[in-house]
Amino acid sequence: MSKYFQATASAPVNIACIKYWGKRDTKLILPTNSSLSVTLSQDHLRSTTTSRADPSFTEDTIWLNGKLDEIKPGGRLSTCIDAMRRAREEVEDADPKAEKFSQCKVHICSYNNFPTAAGLASSASGFAALVYSLAKLYQLPASPKDLSIIARQGSGSACRSLFGGFVAWREGTAPDGSDSFAEQVAPEIAWSDMHALICVVSDDKKGTSSTAGMQRTVETSTLFEQRKAVVPGRMRAITEAIHKRDFDQFAEITMKDSNSFHAVALDTDPPIFYLNDVSRAIIAIVTEYNRVSLDAGGKRKAAYTFDAGPNAVIYAPKENIKEIVEMIVEYFPQESFKDTFALFGKEDVRGRLVRG
Ligand code: ADP
Ligand code: DP6
Ligand code: CO
Repeated sequence: MSKYFQATASAPVNIACIKYWGKRDTKLILPTNSSLSVTLSQDHLRSTTTSRADPSFTEDTIWLNGKLDEIKPGGRLSTCIDAMRRAREEVEDADPKAEKFSQCKVHICSYNNFPTAAGLASSASGFAALVYSLAKLYQLPASPKDLSIIARQGSGSACRSLFGGFVAWREGTAPDGSDSFAEQVAPEIAWSDMHALICVVSDDKKGTSSTAGMQRTVETSTLFEQRKAVVPGRMRAITEAIHKRDFDQFAEITMKDSNSFHAVALDTDPPIFYLNDVSRAIIAIVTEYNRVSLDAGGKRKAAYTFDAGPNAVIYAPKENIKEIVEMIVEYFPQESFKDTFALFGKEDVRGRLVRG
């Protein structure tokens, strides 16, 4: 048996509060607006990727959830693999003592422990784990920022999963994308009271991929120009809310931006519907929950957000999570949900695990 080199890495998903939706450069994956997300705890939704280099391998190969996937020349997977391989070549060129295995083909095996392509950010954790596992395999001196730039070229949202806590992806202005990367706005411990509840409404693969959907929005939506104009103000306001731990402000902006994203999806021609009846009912429940509090002179107690799919993510202070889970379970027959998870934060506050 030939000598081989192998490394495994995991990366968690991140769920955006200010959504990335639109590219100004589809090859380099440069966004039309900056975005901001929360990286969830790795204990729950994650991708785990093992990369192995072996002189006996004849081509780069990837298995995703146990099934062979295609690595198209010039495609996103090969862009990431090639970039990492080039970085290894530089290490080998600079250090005569370094093991020479950059020219070996790689076999990559990745598993998601949650639904793939269902609007729960599998491309984000997936490409972050891929790039991270190759960085370990190749023992690269790369910083999270360097890896963020490479992961971005696999899937835009992946650049944010290289960091924990509250993370911003700066759109940048450089035509080569060298200033379009993610950075941490605040660590998880800066707001450890913040929790996320994931309601898996459906684990079906979405009808329109994020990549195809956002491109169609850029090309056909007139509302999209309005969205681009409001996002910079929201980025500033939500950053301030995070630094002040102002949940009311955080919630208002998060819900508005989710609605704005789904509005431009609907304004796309042909229209894209990511939300379903259960998603809309969750919006109504959270709205009512907040209204009762606001009417009593209080503040917002929960914030919903939906990525490109029907599954809800509800951000809320830890003390409200149990109440929210109970409310949702009361309104819906249990079979409406595959799973509800309370995530993020130090303690596991999983009040109830609902399996359909
Ligand atoms: P999602 O909402 O789950 O991010 P997308 O449409 O953005 O859905 O992307 C789904 C695609 O991301 C998959 O079809 C696959 O190509 C890629 N992907 C998902 N998980 C992984 C993984 N673990 N490793 C590599 N690529 C992945
Ligand atoms: C709605 O990062 O999946 O989840 O860059 O084409 O791979 P590609 O798209 P992707 O888009 C994510 C869209 C979103 C919002 C977000 O995560 O910011
Ligand atoms: Co995605």
